[in-house]
Amino acid sequence: TGYITLDDGFANTGGTTSSITYIDGEKGILRYRGYRIEELAERCDFLEVAYLLIYGELPTADQLEEFRDNIRRHTLLHEGMKQLFAGFPPDAHPMAILSSVVGALAIYCKDSLDPLDEAQRQLSIYRLMAKMPTIAAFGYKQSIGQPFVYPQNHLTYCQNFLYMLFAVPSERYRMDPDYVEALNLLLILHADHGQNCSTSAVRMVGSSNVNLFSAISAGICALWGQLHGGANEACINMLEQILADNRNIGKYIDKAKDPNDPFRLMGFGHRIYKNYDPRAKIIKSVADRLIAKKIGTDPLFELAKELEEIALKDPYFVERKLYPNVDFYSGIIYRAMGIPKNMFTVLFALGRLPGWIAHWREMHLTPNKRIHRPRQLYIGYPERPFVPLIKRS
Ligand code: CMC
Repeated sequence: TGYITLDDGFANTGGTTSSITYIDGEKGILRYRGYRIEELAERCDFLEVAYLLIYGELPTADQLEEFRDNIRRHTLLHEGMKQLFAGFPPDAHPMAILSSVVGALAIYCKDSLDPLDEAQRQLSIYRLMAKMPTIAAFGYKQSIGQPFVYPQNHLTYCQNFLYMLFAVPSERYRMDPDYVEALNLLLILHADHGQNCSTSAVRMVGSSNVNLFSAISAGICALWGQLHGGANEACINMLEQILADNRNIGKYIDKAKDPNDPFRLMGFGHRIYKNYDPRAKIIKSVADRLIAKKIGTDPLFELAKELEEIALKDPYFVERKLYPNVDFYSGIIYRAMGIPKNMFTVLFALGRLPGWIAHWREMHLTPNKRIHRPRQLYIGYPERPFVPLIKRS
């Protein structure tokens, strides 16, 4: 079978070529299609960045309008899908709902399942971009016992999501432009990040030529874990725990350093960044501005900043080059916006969606694409004699 190299966690093995996202982890640089993340986050609309990631170029005004229009017309869900939400218990985790219902789109969108057909591929992209916010918002409404709020297609992508999440039929909804702006920025910052666990999952699953909805559902499942996107929710849980535990930061720093304790600082460390995560830098400064403007002070935010300061002076974190990552401060902003913490990873998924799609599309457009099929080094038994059931002890 030839010589097989083992690379635990794929730390040094490239599974694909890609021209979507460039990361220099030593210098803390992130670029989408060659554009600096800082500039995109400040100057773009999320759908502009989605277009850039998926198709490779910033759209012209006409291209952007056409893209927006194609997405707008697909925001509704099939009415039958409401029965799915109704069947979930109120305490269902929104990530489990999201992956299930996105997977179920393959049942309702049967004319866009062929990933090898350009027209179907395109239709599935519009449908998924349009329906994910609706699914996310319906899942939330179901969990709090409020009626579903249907999309309003005259609103922007971010406005529409906040509207579906927070509006109630009995009251006029007042859109807060600061929150729309913050959401737009957070979605852009989450939009792609190379071959991370969920994107690799989308590529892996998609490489079998399954439809986009199923591949993205797999990506959502991968994102949910605490070592990946689930860290944003876990981080707020951790901060709340430290606050309730007499704000004893030192105790939790010690736990994180203890090799016999599985506890880790959530929102800290990264496989690629050995410097400050550029996304965390932007998110922290936005959190600073937003909290000051909207709330004044937030004890969890103050605690997070202090925790960061202490950790970054500690030799354990310095030697291992562990810095805050994208998940450390994002929850502080979501909380300020009134978004419950079990929805944080759903927001990560909404942001990452164009990145997943871009990688899926790039894979399908690669000539001679092959199914992903990693090898293994077998370390189990060689051949053994079979023992009948009655003779086993
Ligand atoms: N707290 C304490 N120690 C840590 C942490 C942490 N958050 N992260 C890494 N380390 C230690 C780890 O114990 C190991 O120490 P030693 O060399 O003594 O064994 C060393 O640093 C290297 O860690 P690793 O586990 O080999 O690194 P990795 O590249 O496999 O893992 C990671 C990366 C992000 C999973 C990890 O840093 C971690 O668990 N962080 C906490 C969870 C988190 O914030 N995840 C979000 C990642 S960024 C966005 C996203 O992908 O969603």
